[in-house]
Amino acid sequence: MAGRNVLVTGGNRGIGLSIATALAEAGDNVVITHRSGEPPEGLQAVRCEVTDSASVDQAFADAEAIWGGPVEVLVANAGVTRDGLLMRMSDEDFDAVIDTNLAGAFRCARRAVKGMIKQRKGRIIFISSVVGLYGSPGQTNYSASKAGLVGLARSISRELGGRGITANVVAPGFIETDMTAELPEDRKKAYQATIPAGRFAQPEEVAAAVRFLAGDDAAYITGAVIPVDGGLGMGH
Ligand SMILES: NC(=O)c1ccc[n+]([C@@H]2O[C@H](COP(=O)([O-])OP(=O)(O)OC[C@H]3O[C@@H](n4cnc5c(N)ncnc54)[C@H](OP(=O)(O)O)[C@@H]3O)[C@@H](O)[C@H]2O)c1
Repeated sequence: MAGRNVLVTGGNRGIGLSIATALAEAGDNVVITHRSGEPPEGLQAVRCEVTDSASVDQAFADAEAIWGGPVEVLVANAGVTRDGLLMRMSDEDFDAVIDTNLAGAFRCARRAVKGMIKQRKGRIIFISSVVGLYGSPGQTNYSASKAGLVGLARSISRELGGRGITANVVAPGFIETDMTAELPEDRKKAYQATIPAGRFAQPEEVAAAVRFLAGDDAAYITGAVIPVDGGLGMGH
């Protein structure tokens, strides 16, 4: 199971860093992408802006040079929020979130399957959100982008399932990262009250689900949505 070439987008912090660390500890050859700043210590890193196809292509080429071979597991994790009520949401905020969260994941998957098809094996894991299927006021752009990942994964499953490639979605609920640190305390408390588990999760709890989907035990799982949300979405 271990020793595969794994690329995690947005692996410099938050959930992506946790996923990268878990897979590296399991013995995989992990390369993370980072957009800004310095990469975390102890992990191989390449620069990537997922809204730019040329940058995605270069990042894969740089990672392939590090591995000496193609990517075997892609974790499309890079994502952003630009919240606002529908009536006041600008085209720019809608487009930016779709371009990063959905089109960015598409660009990475399109580049990744080139090598996977040749090898007749591959794992693609999209990091979506409970909000993709549950909905959320003030997050029409984010929710639509995350729901889109389900269609993307399912279509890839149908297109490339016969080539040994699986494509799955992990849908985290509220995870303690920079993204949720921005929430005001009263909203955090209100959200917690709606979560059956009664708490937010740690990034490592998302990483555990990704590690399972990337592993040999998940070879027959594709087109699935795996919630890691303390029951918030009730299995959706
Ligand atoms: N935290 C949660 O509760 C939660 C819940 C459900 C789903 N998620 C999803 O999980 C994923 C990770 O979330 P997180 O909480 O770890 O977020 P985070 O701490 O804000 O990290 C987001 C990561 O995405 C990268 N990124 C953003 N835009 C990018 C772009 N255009 N090109 C390349 N990289 C880009 C960021 O790079 P920089 O460091 O350069 O900004 C960063 O590495 C996201 O897809 C998010 O939607 C999070």
